[in-house]
Amino acid sequence: MTARLGCEDLGIGVGLRVPHYGYVFENRPPIDFFEVISENFMISGGKPLDNLGRALDHYPVVQHGVSLNIGGPEPIDREYLTRLKQLVRRTNTPWVSDHFCWCGAGGAHLHDLLPLPYTEAAIARVAERAKMIQDFLEVPFALENTSSYLTYNASQVSEWQFVSEVVERADVGLMFDVNNVFVSAYNHGFDAYEFIHGIPHERIVQIHLAGHTNVGTHIIDTHSGSVADPVWDLYRETIELAGPVSTLVEWDDEIPDFPVLLAEAERARTVRDRAIAARDERVAQGGSPAPTRTKSLVPEPTGVTASDGAGWVQGGPREHATV
Ligand SMILES: [Fe+2]
Repeated sequence: MTARLGCEDLGIGVGLRVPHYGYVFENRPPIDFFEVISENFMISGGKPLDNLGRALDHYPVVQHGVSLNIGGPEPIDREYLTRLKQLVRRTNTPWVSDHFCWCGAGGAHLHDLLPLPYTEAAIARVAERAKMIQDFLEVPFALENTSSYLTYNASQVSEWQFVSEVVERADVGLMFDVNNVFVSAYNHGFDAYEFIHGIPHERIVQIHLAGHTNVGTHIIDTHSGSVADPVWDLYRETIELAGPVSTLVEWDDEIPDFPVLLAEAERARTVRDRAIAARDERVAQGGSPAPTRTKSLVPEPTGVTASDGAGWVQGGPREHATV
């Protein structure tokens, strides 16, 4: 395997969102790349594609999807894949990503990224489908670790073991969302640094950063507000482990003026530059490029109560489970 499946480092980007079109097209701010939600542009014409074209005139654009439903019970929707591939050709995206999740069944779309059980059967199924999708799209394909609010008693391995095994078996990329690691570590009581050290760093093709909302008993992945301090720490560690990787700031709720988002992206650039310098310094001194794991972070939720639901536990560490 070529490192990062041959995906080059694009630098620092942000999600392209409608409220920012005017500012972006008028001012052409100094951002390295934009990410678009594929489903918003899988159409045959009209204003959205005109706006996409204007972005493509001046910036690299990468595609990120939310409706593939790779873990759903039905076969992958071939018509969806065909339209996705048409957009791939239009944007010339260097890679395409979606999520480790299921989001619908029986013809219903649930408009959420629901977690998968981390079982051998799910690993085999998702890996087979991911490989098929990458072959069909003829561009590197990456899957993103999601944030979650429940776990399944059926799970046999940790989330990071699941993620690692799928991407290795399918020979696809990892879209690594550092905020999602923190959110899920808080919600389920695992060690965020164990997750970050436990994945195949050479397969990370892109990193996501975002803000979240802490409601005490659990964290909701709102993509609102600034990136939290412990998430910056986890990002720094990820870059020290992986080296320079394209990094994108997502901000989807209470979207601020573009300069606020740009400042958050610039903070990511500063953190990334320092992490790369620390990595280079370690190598210059004859050490390993990757730091050994010395840190630990098992966030402690407040006010956790165990669910009496059948087969799942919500909002707290696994050891609180009674089912
Ligand atoms: Fe993300």
